[in-house]
Amino acid sequence: MSPVPGTSIVIFGASGDLTSRKLIPALFRLFQQDFLPAGCPITGVARREKSHNEFREEMRADVQKRFGDRFDESAWEQFAKQLFYVRLDLADNAAYDGLKAQLESLEAACGISADPTRVVYLATSPSLFSSAVAGLHEAQMIPPRENSGRLRVVVEKPFGHDLDSAIKLAGELDRYLQEDQIFRIDHYLGKETVQNILLFRFGNAIFEPLLNRSHVDHVQITCAESQGMEGSRGGYYDTAGALRDVLQNHVLQLLCLIGMDPPSLFQAREIRDEKLKVLQALRPGNPGALGNWAVRGQYMAGLSDGKAVPAYRDEERVSPNSNRETFVAMKVLIDNWRWAGVPFFLRTGKRLPKQVTEIAIQFKNPPLNLFSTVECDGDLCDLVETRPNQLIIRIQPRESISLRFSTKRPGMNYQVQPVSMDFDYDQHFKTVLPEAYERLLLDVMRGDSTLFTRNDELEAAWRFVNPVLQAWESSSSAPEFYPAGTWGPSAADRLIADSRALWRAPSGL
Ligand code: BG6
Repeated sequence: MSPVPGTSIVIFGASGDLTSRKLIPALFRLFQQDFLPAGCPITGVARREKSHNEFREEMRADVQKRFGDRFDESAWEQFAKQLFYVRLDLADNAAYDGLKAQLESLEAACGISADPTRVVYLATSPSLFSSAVAGLHEAQMIPPRENSGRLRVVVEKPFGHDLDSAIKLAGELDRYLQEDQIFRIDHYLGKETVQNILLFRFGNAIFEPLLNRSHVDHVQITCAESQGMEGSRGGYYDTAGALRDVLQNHVLQLLCLIGMDPPSLFQAREIRDEKLKVLQALRPGNPGALGNWAVRGQYMAGLSDGKAVPAYRDEERVSPNSNRETFVAMKVLIDNWRWAGVPFFLRTGKRLPKQVTEIAIQFKNPPLNLFSTVECDGDLCDLVETRPNQLIIRIQPRESISLRFSTKRPGMNYQVQPVSMDFDYDQHFKTVLPEAYERLLLDVMRGDSTLFTRNDELEAAWRFVNPVLQAWESSSSAPEFYPAGTWGPSAADRLIADSRALWRAPSGL
């Protein structure tokens, strides 16, 4: 993974939160590890008037705050020399000629020839995506088809607001760009543990033969957050909700990775083809019986990490009558040979008790229950039976993989003891895992789109969630309320109980 020479990085929306919170820290880390090509200019572009130095100082303050004791002053001084700023109204197509001229002169000053590979990161509001690409076109910054690799455009979610707007946006980008020039970021795919799902499944011989309808009872995917609407997040979130914000993208991507068939090659096209097949095989739920397969909730005031927190409707920039869901749970079926009849339960939400993302695969019980123990504590006696095996892939925090099984407790009787075999990233590797954005930015520079979402995947994901969005948005009833700091509305428990299962309460965090 060597640095790619002749690269120039341009960030549209340089005054935004994403630039200072994620992109510049990730680029700084890549620089420190020698993954940034020597002299590679990083040019922030935004509407406000600012000098290069002002931009550098702003970024330094944010990165320093973020890195704390780990902030390396002298490395920053070197890195900052590559940071530049250009003022531009991104909505003004005619102004891009000026941007082109300024970029060319900055690139020349950094020793980059007339033919740079430009990575343009659209860290802007989605309403500017189309005009930004049209502006690049007007200024002839989009290379001809045979040289398409000279420009890579990174697009942040949300890619549309629903199926129609996603198709419209795709059409607008397609007008000027080739599919291989568009890198749609789903930062979950850059997480180390998410990347490991494919290696774990297809790089080992013993697990894969079990992952199908013959052995698996059901799968649970949980993406829980304890945070609410910190900062001014409420403004965006009240137009999005949990279904659009996390389920349609991060959770469905996890579902694809755990559900897909092995690709014939470990390459972008083959992997994305297999993921697409999973999305296309999702059984469309009956909108008339929505409550049987999709439930929504909204948090009320409650406790988060022991502190009193307000209800969603009382959050800053949220409508006091909002019916926006802050929790969603779904029962999903994949109609293919491997998974026919195996329910996948998905849930995500804000203000849940813990910050945790995990995939739990629950296997079927042995065909005959030979072992059970009566355990008494005082007068209370319980029948302890062997529990179904579970394979738990913890994406975050405390990244790990655990296999739960039953064993015999030492003694003269056959007493059942549930135990687990654990692989813990931290204990094993004793290293800080790279941030998702580091890996993803490096992949864009290398032109590797394996960890990015292809347009057909995106469209298939929207197609699946669209009927739910429409039904919820046209309904005047409120989501079921749940107190902040709990695992969501009781409808979510009923949803899984219908399949004789229970949500896992993730432990060991
Ligand atoms: C983002 C959502 O895509 O993912 C946020 O917009 C959410 O609402 C975040 O908090 C979760 O990402 P992570 O990496 O913190 O799990």
